[in-house]
Amino acid sequence: MNKEFCEELAARTKQVEAVIEKYLPKAEGHQRTVVEAMNYSVQAGGKRLRPMLMLETYRMFGGRSEVIEPFMAAMEMIHTYSLVHDDLPAMDNDEYRRGKKTTHAQFGEAMGILAGDGLLGYAFETAAKAFELEPANNQIGKALSVLAQKSGIYGMLGGQCVDVQAEGKTVSEELLRFIYQLKTGALLEASMMIGAILAGATGSEQKQVEQAAGELGLAFQIQDDLLDVTSTTEELGKPVGSDEKNHKTTWVTLFGVEEAKQEVERLSRLSVERMDALVVKNEFLTNLMLELIHRKK
Ligand code: IPE
Ligand code: IPE
Ligand code: MG
Ligand code: MG
Ligand code: MG
Repeated sequence: MNKEFCEELAARTKQVEAVIEKYLPKAEGHQRTVVEAMNYSVQAGGKRLRPMLMLETYRMFGGRSEVIEPFMAAMEMIHTYSLVHDDLPAMDNDEYRRGKKTTHAQFGEAMGILAGDGLLGYAFETAAKAFELEPANNQIGKALSVLAQKSGIYGMLGGQCVDVQAEGKTVSEELLRFIYQLKTGALLEASMMIGAILAGATGSEQKQVEQAAGELGLAFQIQDDLLDVTSTTEELGKPVGSDEKNHKTTWVTLFGVEEAKQEVERLSRLSVERMDALVVKNEFLTNLMLELIHRKK
């Protein structure tokens, strides 16, 4: 990563973090433990890729208002909920995430379940605050609907369903693509689409962004599979070898490391080309998407 981009990325990540922080619930009242568990997982860190993609797509289409902010925070809450539940004993059973103990390992399993549920619900309370900022903005309803769809049974949750059911089974390339498009692709699609929608992009531009984000999401998950076998727990902040432990079919078990790397590169470049074909430009976004090909965590 060149030094200039690296510094720019760090600065923008900080700005995104500040937005997320602003919308976190306060740990108070008799139910404060669940709020502490929710905030614990969000504040543990992470790349903040989804809210960043949302903001950059919003800027790309000329968006300038703070109406994007509650949606950025909501997206990180939903993503974090998906991780908290993904790590539960009944799912991938992992004890380490974002460089810290997982939420259930820290707060107990019941609180891990509730913290995930809490984040999902609070994400929608948060996104709905966009109506307070701009009551007459009629893109907000569409953005909310995309957020709901891409998180649910036709999106991330649907993918997680097929992912756990496929454990220990032979999985075709076609089914693996389906799993990745949903479990990982859907939230990237929602992130970039919401940026485009709130900035007033046309329907066909929204479709183009959705497709590009889907390709990026597939590449992102294949890279995640690669890191599970090639990286270290220290570098990743989550356990390596989780997929093997859970008898998962991954892109790496199906095609091997080299082909998986090539597929990450191919899909990422396809995605960038699709974004390049739009009339609007965002150089930082392009660089970010290309940078992900070689990401180390
Ligand atoms: C991890 O997502 C789960 C996948 C979809 C592969 P990230 O790699 O974006 O995790 P954080 O947010 O940086 O922790
Ligand atoms: C999960 O995929 C994607 C989610 C929707 C959480 P993984 O199970 O591979 O994600 P990690 O490796 O635990 O982050
Ligand atoms: Mg999983
Ligand atoms: Mg997992
Ligand atoms: Mg993984």
